Amino acid sequence: MTNSPYAPAAMLNPVVDFISHSVAQTQRIGARLGELLRPSDVILLEGDFGSGKTCLAQGIARGLGLGVLVNSPTFTLINEYPARDYGSRLTFYHIDVYRLSQPVPELLDLGIDDYLYGQGVCVVEWAERVVTLMPPDHLAIKLKFISETKRGIRMEPSGNRYVGLLHEFRKRAFGL
Ligand SMILES: Nc1ncnc2c1ncn2[C@@H]1O[C@H](COP(=O)(O)OP(=O)(O)OP(=O)(O)O)[C@@H](O)[C@H]1O
Ligand SMILES: [Mg+2]
Repeated sequence: MTNSPYAPAAMLNPVVDFISHSVAQTQRIGARLGELLRPSDVILLEGDFGSGKTCLAQGIARGLGLGVLVNSPTFTLINEYPARDYGSRLTFYHIDVYRLSQPVPELLDLGIDDYLYGQGVCVVEWAERVVTLMPPDHLAIKLKFISETKRGIRMEPSGNRYVGLLHEFRKRAFGL
């Protein structure tokens, strides 16, 4: 803490925007974030095909302590990784709504709120398709294809919990 009456720049502008240069780097960033997550945290992943959403989700799972490489749900909407079965710090819910033609009613049918407001961590791929169902407080991560090996990663927090989370993340990942 300083005695300055001004908030540090990082607190005023909590958005984190950078470029990942490799799959390993994207996973590592995810892991740094995963280490900081708490029960009922919600991470929304947005971006085109192949922009790296699943890759980042793999890192988040690793950061939670899951010993397996998670993959996008293929036949189910939600892959559940209960903490007790995977030896992780928290239960991990990996949600991918891309394949749904009517994602909003289908998620409602599944009782999505039980996941979003439960004791685990939710990571939602293609979250922009179900934005009306998502909690107002969340961390949105927007991924962009830049070149074969480069991806833009922009993290935007909504709500105090996620501003604080991003502040911690920035310190841990970049020392800022
Ligand atoms: N810096 C990088 N970060 C992440 N992925 C990268 C990077 N460079 C190259 N890639 C490649 O981009 C692809 C990312 O795939 P991934 O499944 O994570 O994307 P996605 O956003 O989940 O796609 P989808 O919308 O199909 O689910 C992989 O083939 C990966 O090898
Ligand atoms: Mg994916």
